[in-house]
Amino acid sequence: MNTTSTILIEDKSIVPAEFDKIAYRYDLATYFSRGYMDDMRESAKRLNLKGDEKLLDLCCGTGKSTLACIEQLTTGTIIGVDNSIEMLTVAKSKFKEYGSRVQFEQQDAMHLTFEENSFDVIFMAYGIRNMPDYELCLQNLKRILKPGGKICFHEYSLADNFYSRPAWIILGYLFLIPFCTLLSGNFTIFHYLVKSVLAFPNPKQFSAMLTKNGFSQVSATPLLEWRRPFMHTFIAVK
Ligand SMILES: C[S@@+](CC[C@H](N)C(=O)[O-])C[C@H]1O[C@@H](n2cnc3c(N)ncnc32)[C@H](O)[C@@H]1O
Repeated sequence: MNTTSTILIEDKSIVPAEFDKIAYRYDLATYFSRGYMDDMRESAKRLNLKGDEKLLDLCCGTGKSTLACIEQLTTGTIIGVDNSIEMLTVAKSKFKEYGSRVQFEQQDAMHLTFEENSFDVIFMAYGIRNMPDYELCLQNLKRILKPGGKICFHEYSLADNFYSRPAWIILGYLFLIPFCTLLSGNFTIFHYLVKSVLAFPNPKQFSAMLTKNGFSQVSATPLLEWRRPFMHTFIAVK
């Protein structure tokens, strides 16, 4: 049976297997997305790190988010986790110069095996939206974050105004899906992207979810330029 975006929305546990199929084209497909790395770096900067933290880059993919994070660390370390073995293979090839400071592991973000209070910082870029149960994931992440530790979600979350949803539908169906399908050879994952963004909580709702699940000092800040209505950096503290 062919995977469809509807199947992915209904069973998000198979999303990493779909990313396996585009792993070697993911960087190309996102290369032309103006602002992809600018936005990622902006979210990492907004964490205001000291530089010596132990950071979990959850759903690290091919390591684009890992790169934005390592640029904010002087002596700190990163563990990049993803459940797509092929995305991890691409990521691993990029960070050899950092030696043991950057390591990668295959794990399911819904069933992480790290001990309680393991990390100073968790960075999750385009990850939480792919979780089958957002709140259960937040509770698990709170468990492995140290008290006082910071968590950052870099995510598509449509601003609560009259134009963000229609603008996203136009952008998604007329530009993003055709262009990324052409570059990656995979329609399903980008159709799923557009639909999963429409189903994700808006910034107010996701901030409230963070507070409800025990995080404090929650902030939601729009990303840069024309992405402002569509993408936000969420930062919170345990
Ligand atoms: C859009 S990519 C983001 C990659 C990277 N963070 C970036 O910003 O470039 C989403 C990643 O989430 C991973 N993912 C989705 N569901 C996951 C899960 N349950 N556990 C671990 N990784 C997952 C996928 O395999 C994919 O690599």
